[in-house]
Amino acid sequence: MGHVWLIGMMGSGKSTVGRLVADRLGRPFYDTDELIEQAGDASIPEIFAEEGESGFRERERWVVEDVASRPPGIAATGGGIILDPANIKTMRGSGTIVLLAADVEMLNRRIGYSDDRPLLAAGKRERLLAIASERTERYRSSADLIVDATGSIDDVVADVEAACSES
Ligand code: S3P
Repeated sequence: MGHVWLIGMMGSGKSTVGRLVADRLGRPFYDTDELIEQAGDASIPEIFAEEGESGFRERERWVVEDVASRPPGIAATGGGIILDPANIKTMRGSGTIVLLAADVEMLNRRIGYSDDRPLLAAGKRERLLAIASERTERYRSSADLIVDATGSIDDVVADVEAACSES
């Protein structure tokens, strides 16, 4: 049994779904954004402000490696995790990668007002559209499995749970 790595755009439900699935299966839950904040003793906007996106991505890579070495669980990742091929290799080598796929309009509604995501600061809907079009191919090619994240939370949790039983 390996990790189940949840990937997908900001607002696709990785943390909420991951936590619920881990609770139901009695497996550990990891959240890369939370672990980055704990390790740096700073919020994500603070890390972006002080170290730029590249500093944040370096911390993200360390955390992925750290989680990969821990007992198998459900890991929610930050939306940009797939930007670094090293992360994809680490995730693939330690478990199954599951994409929570959702359309931009749903993400935009779900995110609502948010000032804790630096990459959306310049205009949420437009940035979501731009980021989704830059990343869609990479999300899909990185994933072992794709779960439709536009349904109810219960449906998404059930689909991810089924993916876990196969992992
Ligand atoms: C990012 C997504 C965020 C967080 C950071 C960058 C991205 O995580 O890691 O703000 O590049 O898509 P969520 O996907 O949990 O919002």
